Amino acid sequence: MCGIVGYAGNKQAAPILLEGLSKLEYRGYDSAGIAVRDKDKPVSVVKAKGRLSKLVEKTDEGHAVKGTCGIGHTRWATHGEPSEINAHPHISGCEPKGGTITDDSGVVGVHNGIIENFQELKDKLLRHDYKFYSETDTEVAVKLVDYYYNKYGIGPIDALAKTMVRVRGSYALAVMFRDYPGEIWVARKDSPMIIGVTKGESFVASDVPAILKYTRNVYYIGNLEIARLTPGDVHFYNLDGDEIRKELTEITWDAEAAEKGGYEHFMMKEIHEQPKAIIDTINASVKDNEFCFKDINLTPEMIRNFKQIYIVACGSAYHVGVAAQYVLEDMVRIPVRVELASEFRYRNPILDKDSLCILVSQSGETADTLAALRLAKEKGVRTLAVVNVIGSSIAREADDIFYTMAGPEIAVATTKAYSTQLIAFYLLALWFGRIREVIDHDRCIALLDEMRTIPAKIEKILEDKERLQWFASKFSNAHDIFFIGRGIDFAISLEGSLKMKEISYIHSEAYAAGELKHGTISLIEDGTLIIGVITQGALYEKTISNMVECKSRGAYLMGLTTYGNYEIEDRADFVAYIPKTDEHFTTSLAVIPLQLMGYYMAVARGLDVDKPRNLAKSVTVE
Ligand code: G6P
Repeated sequence: MCGIVGYAGNKQAAPILLEGLSKLEYRGYDSAGIAVRDKDKPVSVVKAKGRLSKLVEKTDEGHAVKGTCGIGHTRWATHGEPSEINAHPHISGCEPKGGTITDDSGVVGVHNGIIENFQELKDKLLRHDYKFYSETDTEVAVKLVDYYYNKYGIGPIDALAKTMVRVRGSYALAVMFRDYPGEIWVARKDSPMIIGVTKGESFVASDVPAILKYTRNVYYIGNLEIARLTPGDVHFYNLDGDEIRKELTEITWDAEAAEKGGYEHFMMKEIHEQPKAIIDTINASVKDNEFCFKDINLTPEMIRNFKQIYIVACGSAYHVGVAAQYVLEDMVRIPVRVELASEFRYRNPILDKDSLCILVSQSGETADTLAALRLAKEKGVRTLAVVNVIGSSIAREADDIFYTMAGPEIAVATTKAYSTQLIAFYLLALWFGRIREVIDHDRCIALLDEMRTIPAKIEKILEDKERLQWFASKFSNAHDIFFIGRGIDFAISLEGSLKMKEISYIHSEAYAAGELKHGTISLIEDGTLIIGVITQGALYEKTISNMVECKSRGAYLMGLTTYGNYEIEDRADFVAYIPKTDEHFTTSLAVIPLQLMGYYMAVARGLDVDKPRNLAKSVTVE
């Protein structure tokens, strides 16, 4: 993620860029920056760490930076921690002083995406005497454009095309060349980018909301295409430098819908972003079927010697831990203990020094999880953080980090962060399992291949969401809902139940199906909804029996199982199916209908899905 915006026109660019960035903060918010050029004067670059408001303050709402052509960026760190120096725009020139640059750099640019071969390209540029001041892949891209621009001397199209051929990964790149004042040049592959035009003005942005105030007429730039923006005019080119003709499209969404990509709520948007977030998380740690965990320094010897794994987290991240326990114990054959951070920190735990403590947190700032991390470190235990926000407190303090690639999550109820945390654990389990020789090479490859099918299977589940919407609206007045399952299905039930209660405010509980008879079954009345999660073949009959016991006491049964188990329809009143996958990975699929159920119940009840009452996205107090 990251948001980019650009303006070439006749008004002052900086206030327009800041306004545009404010609409893109949902794409990233750890730092921001703008670069503005005033005719043929040197470019001014101003950056600030933190929320956009810091940059707004620093630039006096943009009035302190003069010029009618500029680019801006709001960052979600992928390479290099959030800091002023790593913030975009980046320049082809030398190290900026004090965060405000006024120099005559040949190329200045902003980028959204990930350049996979940035290290190889950086080494090449170092050999050609380029100096680097930041840790970002973007600085490499900007310097590579500058390199080709100077080497061939044919102009921006050629420099960009050569760069695009050389770069592997995804990008939406917007650059300004010193030799072309008043113009913005852009290139794109696999990262979103739109171009807007109106009389005398041109805009570029990662997403429609950034420019909707100024124009509704946009061009969609295709993959591996280049565009040249001059005030009020845009030209498109392919990699061969041939001009391409494009049609303008009129945006008819209102501004609020546009910010959510056309979805009614951020939660629904994020549910749909899960396939991509999963692919990104796998690709960041597996290259050519080899594991490469950039921020983890555990050696094979350490992994072989661990006697115990603790997983400590809060909320949904804790539920990931419960599912991961089954996966790790089975694939690695190592005892795993899962704990709520708020309990762990106060129970004076006896921690074996030969153990690994894994802290799971989307925000990386949850107070109890952070305290648990510090406690584990104090006791001399190695700590590994599974975190989404780069440079967050938990990421900074842990010995090792696995960054999930969910991008910014806005809805309070987590969906895509949860899904990528699961992926993190599957990858860790496979890696540890290989090293400890529980899993052989062929099985590991087969499981990695199976993991790569998860995104498409999620898409398939999402295609059928209207059925769940219908069912959810039928039960939207429910008072109590029980989610039951055994083994991994119990872990899935925990998350399904939390999703339900946090956004729909319907009382719900998750029970290990075998526990029902020890008390809870007395709560079953006529019409009580029981959702039975049954994805584990060996436990299928047992959970079905528990569901039927509830039915004979008046319960209404919904089953959640895999395609093929159609005989369940003889016993359950309503069934939702998910595609088959390896049973270790079923959480990733079964959670999707449950997220949708919670969502649709909340919508049917007219509630504020993205900001449920009494809850906060990041809980930084205990
Ligand atoms: C809050 C959120 C949950 C989240 C939990 C832990 O309660 O509403 O969605 O699972 O905090 O947050 P973390 O950032 O540590 O994952």
